[in-house]
Amino acid sequence: PNHDIERLKNLLGTHNDFPKKGIVFKDLFPIFQDPVAVETLISNVVHHINSTYEEKIDVVVGLDARGFLLGPLVALRLGAAFVPVRKQGKLPGECVSAVYEKEYGQDVFEMQKDAVKPNARVIIIDDLIATGGSAGAAGELVKKCGATTVEYVFVMELGFLNGTQKLDAPTYSLIQL
Ligand code: HPA
Repeated sequence: PNHDIERLKNLLGTHNDFPKKGIVFKDLFPIFQDPVAVETLISNVVHHINSTYEEKIDVVVGLDARGFLLGPLVALRLGAAFVPVRKQGKLPGECVSAVYEKEYGQDVFEMQKDAVKPNARVIIIDDLIATGGSAGAAGELVKKCGATTVEYVFVMELGFLNGTQKLDAPTYSLIQL
């Protein structure tokens, strides 16, 4: 048993019927109230990456919105760039876009085209993988830039939704729910 992971898991908030009836929402933010827990979280993710991949990671791509909190911390430790993926219409300049399915209807993700160079080695990060729709769209954006997704990294994984099966690269989740 990994005590770091157990402590982080115990800090997660749980909210029934949020944002809709029937959803059990797991909340990352209590971890951010505790700087020691943030250090543990980031160190575990960075150690995983450094011990799994020998070649340098060039870019950490973080997903709107909680991926923006995790991505820069991980990127800084890796000596990598941080690049955000945002909902359509938020990013200036030339962007690549990808459509993905949500519970109800579709959404569009965008990323600045110049931010990820061809052949760059990329880690995609978000707080949670559910159905994998948004992460899959981020993977498409990386591919459209001619770059390679080395791994998808999540703090939490809702394993029963099988979201990782949609993804085109290995997946790492710190906490299985
Ligand atoms: N927490 C955070 N984001 C989510 C969740 C959750 O439980 N389910 C789907 N997206």
